[in-house]
Amino acid sequence: MNNISIVKASEEDAEAIIKYLNVVGGESNNLLFGENEFYMTVEEEQNLIRNLKSSLSSIMLLGKDNGNIVSIGSLSGFRSKRSSHRGEIALSVKKDYWNKGIGSAMMKELIQFGKEVVKLSVIQLTVKVDNESAIHVYKKFGFKQIGYYEKFFYIDGKYFDACLMNLYFDETNLSKEDKDKAL
Ligand SMILES: CC(C)(COP(=O)(O)OP(=O)(O)OC[C@H]1O[C@@H](n2cnc3c(N)ncnc32)[C@H](O)[C@@H]1OP(=O)(O)O)[C@@H](O)C(=O)NCCC(=O)NCCS
Repeated sequence: MNNISIVKASEEDAEAIIKYLNVVGGESNNLLFGENEFYMTVEEEQNLIRNLKSSLSSIMLLGKDNGNIVSIGSLSGFRSKRSSHRGEIALSVKKDYWNKGIGSAMMKELIQFGKEVVKLSVIQLTVKVDNESAIHVYKKFGFKQIGYYEKFFYIDGKYFDACLMNLYFDETNLSKEDKDKAL
């Protein structure tokens, strides 16, 4: 983790981001795209990054080793007033760099941005049920499993379920009775 810098994505990173995602997609079955299945063009990625730069509620961070992207993490806020208290995290680390603390360092920065800058009440994410290392990292940061999304992934002709996990920064006001009703 020593040589890894965590920086905000900028437009010049667009091409490298697409290349990275097309590789990382093939390194596990844990993302919503496989190898070479990340279909954005460089121009679309540049536009996305430009919009993120002016956004007050979303951020894309890159973990870099010697200038090369080895991790991408994003926190995306929602525009509508009624959802503006929530944000959603997505995270990946290049396989050669797993288990070196990079995913955790990225999560720390994303959560700090959500909590202290955006002042969110909830951060949400979705993770494949058998993605043990990711679930371990999310639990370490206080995320709780709130439910399952059956058939969230469709990979090579098979369905896979996902866990929905939330991190709450303040107490929820949902009574046990309401929670039971919702399930
Ligand atoms: C999940 C992912 C982001 C984790 O990144 P990372 O840089 O390896 O994470 P870290 O090194 O910070 O932490 C990994 C932790 O998981 C633990 N771990 C590793 N394998 C594990 C397993 N099979 N079961 C439980 N814990 C495990 C490690 O011991 C470490 O624990 P610690 O923080 O208590 O020391 C990375 O593996 C990845 O990008 N995977 C592919 C894409 C993906 O799954 N993204 C998440 C989609 S929701």
